[in-house]
Amino acid sequence: MAERYNLGDACFERAVHEAGSSMRAVANAGRVLIGDDQADVLEALRLLLKGEGFAIEPAASPSAVLAALEAREFDVILMDLNYTRDTTSGQEGLDLLTRIQAIDSMVPVVVMTAWGSVELAVEAMRRGARDFIQKPWDNARLMTIVRTQMELSAALRRGQRLEAENRLLRAEGRPTMIAESPAMQPVLQLIARVGPSDANVLITGEPGTGKDVVARTLHAVSNRASKPMVTLNAGGLAEGVFESELFGHVKGAFTDAKADRVGRFELADGGTLFLDEIANVPVNLQAKLLRVLEIGEMERVGSSKTRRVDARVISATNANLTEEVAAGRFRQDLLFRLNTIEIHLPPLRERHEDIPLLATHFLGTHARRYRKALQGFDPLALQALVENPWQGNVRELNHVVERAVLMAQDRVVRPGDLALRSGSQTAGRLEDMSLEEVEAFLIKKALARHNGNVSHAANALGLSRSALYRRLQRYGL
Ligand SMILES: Nc1ncnc2c1ncn2[C@@H]1O[C@H](COP(=O)(O)OP(=O)(O)OP(=O)(O)O)[C@@H](O)[C@H]1O
Ligand SMILES: [Mg+2]
Repeated sequence: MAERYNLGDACFERAVHEAGSSMRAVANAGRVLIGDDQADVLEALRLLLKGEGFAIEPAASPSAVLAALEAREFDVILMDLNYTRDTTSGQEGLDLLTRIQAIDSMVPVVVMTAWGSVELAVEAMRRGARDFIQKPWDNARLMTIVRTQMELSAALRRGQRLEAENRLLRAEGRPTMIAESPAMQPVLQLIARVGPSDANVLITGEPGTGKDVVARTLHAVSNRASKPMVTLNAGGLAEGVFESELFGHVKGAFTDAKADRVGRFELADGGTLFLDEIANVPVNLQAKLLRVLEIGEMERVGSSKTRRVDARVISATNANLTEEVAAGRFRQDLLFRLNTIEIHLPPLRERHEDIPLLATHFLGTHARRYRKALQGFDPLALQALVENPWQGNVRELNHVVERAVLMAQDRVVRPGDLALRSGSQTAGRLEDMSLEEVEAFLIKKALARHNGNVSHAANALGLSRSALYRRLQRYGL
């Protein structure tokens, strides 16, 4: 069994290595983003820097700077602090600086100010600018600053990447994730590639396909691994408490608010916020969520004090969010914020190759837990596992193996210990099922009919959302 895990890790290492080399290729370009609203300044800087062999991207407004930064990585940003809306205070430039850092905290920013506005330059440095230059500038000095910052940033990024790669290879805090099948390779590669970044990731897939496992892996390989990953399950919460769970509240904000309470967003500051069952976020709260994601600021319920939060958001759903958007139940702008990167987990029936590995892994875990001396599966039992349709995916496989471990009387698990039943038989013979089995069956049907949306399925079944949640957990659905 140990050998198999090593294979899994080798796979992961390869994916990490490939992701690492493609990131390095991007960093080699020597790319400078220039933000200034004066066409002659842009042109002069473009000529100067181009002459030194840099790739230049001009941006004539703060929004153009942000759009360029969202689109690709830069090595240095050289930007003016004054733009047309307000040409002297530098406020627009300072705001831009803050927003740049929210998108990419590693990119060095050099600000340009008019002669005599040293105070503004100092304020910009306080907010994270790495250096400043006064206009009209001295070409030689400007080039020295740009080169120095470029080298520093390359070294920093290299260090950060190496650290992330090392962490991946050391497997610190990484949950066991078995994924040898061809269908899972794109998933592994995406994890390796985007894990170390701060990008928001949306994980999709049928229930039980491993979305939690992927979320925890992403956090474990990120630069935030030493900080907490805080989970909020949007499906398990009554609508009324959702907002205060997410943002916290102050004493007296509503009748039951007896004391101040810190919300999950603040708890996840510096770390990762995992929003599970995201399709169930009530529509009226989607706008508030969007705002935090866009500007990194929020208020506790009942308070007007704005707080900055820096949480990387990973979300997961088994619903089809595009359909939810079309039906008016989910905001499109929120979807676009959440799914910067989407990782789709294929159902277990599309990754047969992984079934023996997963089953053996679960067998080991449960045999240890129940203190049973089991060596593995009888070949026919393994074949039955591989051929089963697994509507409940990996979670169902885990439950079936757990039961089999308890039932097994020999040193190996026999087909009879598995108690597998095919989906069609289940559907045809309601009268042979126990009450619990019928309930589980009806819940599965309702979820399928409502695209995995727990609120709607609960409505259709005449249950509250939390009551349905408890049943989902009980039946391992
Ligand atoms: N690739 C994997 N390797 C090992 N264990 C896995 C893998 N995928 C899932 N599991 C295990 O299967 C169970 C279900 O996985 P998980 O909770 O991540 O699914 P999910 O997609 O989040 O389900 P849901 O939609 O119900 O929230 C867990 O016990 C998890 O540890
Ligand atoms: Mg889950």
